[in-house]
Amino acid sequence: MNGTPMVRPLQIGPLHLPNNLALAPMAGTSDLAFRRICHRLGAGLTVTELVSARGMAYDPAMRRNWRYLAIDPDAGAMGIQLFGADPDDFVAAIGQILDHPILSRCGLIDINMGCPVRKVVSEGAGCALMQTPLLAARIAQRSVSAAGSKPVTVKCRSGWDSASISAVPFARMLAECGVAAITVHARTRAQMYSGRADWSVLAAVRDAVALPVFGNGDITGWQDAWRMLDETGVDGVMIGRAAQGNPWLFRQIHRREDTGPGLEERRTVILEHLAQLIGLLGEATAVREMRRHLGHYLRGTPGAARLRAAAMTATSRTQLENVLGEWQIRCQESCENS
Ligand SMILES: Cc1cc2nc3c(=O)[nH]c(=O)nc-3n(C[C@H](O)[C@H](O)[C@H](O)COP(=O)(O)O)c2cc1C
Repeated sequence: MNGTPMVRPLQIGPLHLPNNLALAPMAGTSDLAFRRICHRLGAGLTVTELVSARGMAYDPAMRRNWRYLAIDPDAGAMGIQLFGADPDDFVAAIGQILDHPILSRCGLIDINMGCPVRKVVSEGAGCALMQTPLLAARIAQRSVSAAGSKPVTVKCRSGWDSASISAVPFARMLAECGVAAITVHARTRAQMYSGRADWSVLAAVRDAVALPVFGNGDITGWQDAWRMLDETGVDGVMIGRAAQGNPWLFRQIHRREDTGPGLEERRTVILEHLAQLIGLLGEATAVREMRRHLGHYLRGTPGAARLRAAAMTATSRTQLENVLGEWQIRCQESCENS
């Protein structure tokens, strides 16, 4: 480690981030409530899950998409992630965002060029854009010019497969298009989410462009975050799965601390997450959404499997609160017995 602190503020175009720790966009996880919580616990940037640029044109009043796009301008820098394969769709979607009283206050617009899912790549979107760099460049250029002073960033992978690790030339091309920062998930599309992330690609991209680069892939604890910053030289780290059910990871990274939250704090945050989701989605949908989060929050705690099963059948706030009550009792008993 050199003299510069690893966790530090970061500038992305005109956007000042208080620190270089980002919550990854995750479909089904990165709802507004969770992004707010991660911000409070130390994430310098959070990003919505992917939203279809074309789909936004069919939803001008944002009835269907609001729950995914919603940001809180008072909860730190929140980016909005778009996916698609047609530059016109991005221009129109960015126009909608910039015309919107709340969405126009997002921190940045991120373009998904890394999603490996068949439904997305079969349309030429997500990671398929790494196979069509000219189209990717057109999308980036048109988005940058549509966004004006709002930074446009791109999230991509190391390449399509092990025979085409293209992140370095791809990042160079994006830099020429005016993109303000790049996140590289150091896996190929062929790897999906398995196998190991190859962090050497992050160091190569870092050396190749003058833009801020976020490294992503396989950060499982605070030590990994510091190690990625140190070993690869990336400007920031983006954390996905390890933050699911563990937003405290951001605080642990700041403090370089192994200890997670106590039981009471865990319960308070889970209940806050639920209450905010109810405000956003109504009770029935929020309870359904919260089941998945609870699966993550309860992971590794006493009786988790049975409690998760109970949470899966809960249909009301009260039932979920009861599951949490039981969880707390079990955790306390297990502490007393150990
Ligand atoms: C459930 C889930 C949903 C995801 N959704 C998105 C998404 O909407 N947009 C995106 O760019 N990446 C998405 N990703 C990928 C993550 O942002 C991240 O790149 C990946 O999980 C690797 O980081 P990690 O090892 O820290 O989890 C998703 C990942 C998971 C596990």
